This record gives sequence, structure tokens and C-alpha cells, in this order.
Amino acid sequence: MVITKQNIDLIFTLSFLFFFHLHCSITSAQAPGPAPAPAPMPPGPPDVTKILGKASQFNIFIRLLKSTRVSNRLLGELNNTDDGKTIFAPTDKAFSSLKSGELHSLNDEQRVALVLYHVVPTYVPLSQFVIISNPMRTEAGESGDGEFPLNVTTAGKTVTLMTGLTKSNVAGTISADGQLAIYRVDQVLQPLKIFARNSSAPAPAPTPGKSLMGGDVGEKSEALSIGMHNLALLVLCVTTFLLSS
Ligand SMILES: *[C@@H]1O[C@H](CO)[C@@H](O)[C@H](O)[C@H]1NC(C)=O
Ligand SMILES: *[C@@H]1O[C@H](CO)[C@@H](O)[C@H](O)[C@H]1NC(C)=O
Ligand SMILES: *[C@@H]1O[C@H](CO)[C@@H](O)[C@H](O)[C@H]1NC(C)=O
Repeated sequence: MVITKQNIDLIFTLSFLFFFHLHCSITSAQAPGPAPAPAPMPPGPPDVTKILGKASQFNIFIRLLKSTRVSNRLLGELNNTDDGKTIFAPTDKAFSSLKSGELHSLNDEQRVALVLYHVVPTYVPLSQFVIISNPMRTEAGESGDGEFPLNVTTAGKTVTLMTGLTKSNVAGTISADGQLAIYRVDQVLQPLKIFARNSSAPAPAPTPGKSLMGGDVGEKSEALSIGMHNLALLVLCVTTFLLSS
């Protein structure tokens, strides 16, 4: 094979195209979801899973709400109370940053408690977090030490939630209609009662193949398909180059 200037130009062009494409794949894979649109309220009690579905970055939380039947419970409660509800909705990205296997290792009861820990039994507008007394009560149960305490601090417009294990800012408002407030959080709120582990305790083993949430498996195969796609493109580039030289 003779190395000509044309060949070298071609290598550069193809390499550039390849890396440009790789860059595009990576940035598009990381691109944040679209900004949540305010959901028009249908008649009857607001449906948390429908509102979250429109915001399109809460798939794992929606699945958890449904599988634990907390979504039905919320629908019934919102229909029968004037107190309203406040929900802290973790994004899919928040769930993906949990330790591998952590969700799968929870039993049904813990799963329900984890979801209810993200629900406050009253409507709390953003401006009212400043007057809430700590620890805040959630629907998961007792807010005493080692149970389900959730503390809130405010600094200017920043509202921060602290569980004793995790610290998360309220990152956006999905819904605030006077009855149902839904706020986006960047981290799964991990209650002490469920996640406080003694460091000598063995980490829960992940259970591959048995995806109860479905989320992790889907994300991994998506990452894999991006990898395969780029590999295919590299092979194509090299083949094109060899054929043309
Ligand atoms: C809401 O409450 C009304 C009256 O109490 C009842 O007729 C209706 O079926 C309830 N709707 C839901 C979705 O629970
Ligand atoms: C929450 O706040 C209460 C009262 O200020 C405090 O006693 C408790 O230690 C705090 N807990 C966490 C987890 O921050
Ligand atoms: C960790 O667990 C072991 C055995 O269950 C217990 O003896 C020990 O006191 C625990 N340590 C802490 C810091 O909780």
C-alpha cells in the first residue's frame, strides 16, 4: 500500500468524521430532557403519574409509584382531602446514580416506604419551605432519628432537603396548582431507616437479568448500542480507507 498525500487526507477526514460522530453520540446521550411543560388539569383529582409522564424524565419513579400502588393511593387521597400533597420526584438520572443493585435489594415494604418518603401529606408551595419545622413529616412514617426524618433548609430561593444520608436541592417545579405540588430533585432521597448501613455489612449483590425497575437494564443496553454503533462506524471508515487506497 502506497501512502500518498490523498490517503493521509482521507485518514484525517475519516478520523475527524468518526470523532465528531462519537462526540455527537455522547453529547446527545447526555442531553437533559426537555423542560417540563405545565400540565393542564383534567377534572377530578390530579394524577401524579400522568403529570410526571408529560415531563418525560421520571420513568423509574413512575414505575415505582405504580408497582407499589402508591399512585392509586395518592389519587384516592387527593380526591378526599383539602390538604393536598407535595411530592419530591427524583429524575431517572438520580436513580441511575444509586449504587448498583441498591433498589433491587429492597423488599416490597421498603420500596413502598421509599416512595412514601418522597411524599409530604400537605401542599407546600416553594415559598413556604422557609417556615417548615424540622424534621419534616413524610408519609413514610416516623420522623425520629434513624427513622424517616427529612430536614429542609432554605437559602434565598434554594431549598435543600437532607435525609441524614443525602442532600438534594429542589431543582424545579413540575406542578403547583394549589392542591398538588411536584418538585424535581436531583437525588433519590435516601431515608436512614432503609439506607443506613453499617460499613461492615456486605453490599447487596446486584441481581442481573431480574430488572424489577427496568431502568438500569434499559440504560445499559442503550449505552451498549451507542458503543456498537461507533464500532460499526469505525469499521466502515477503515474499510472505506483500505478500499480506496
Ligand atoms: C372522587 O370522589 C367522588 C365522591 O367522593 C367519587 O364519586 C369519585 O369516584 C372519586 N374519584 C376517584 C378517582 O377516586
Ligand atoms: C434535622 O433537624 C433536627 C432539628 O434541627 C435535628 O435535631 C436533626 O439532627 C436533623 N436531622 C438531619 C438528618 O439532618
Ligand atoms: C454493625 O453491625 C454489627 C453486626 O450486626 C454490629 O455488631 C455493630 O455494632 C454495627 N456497627 C455499627 C457502627 O452500627
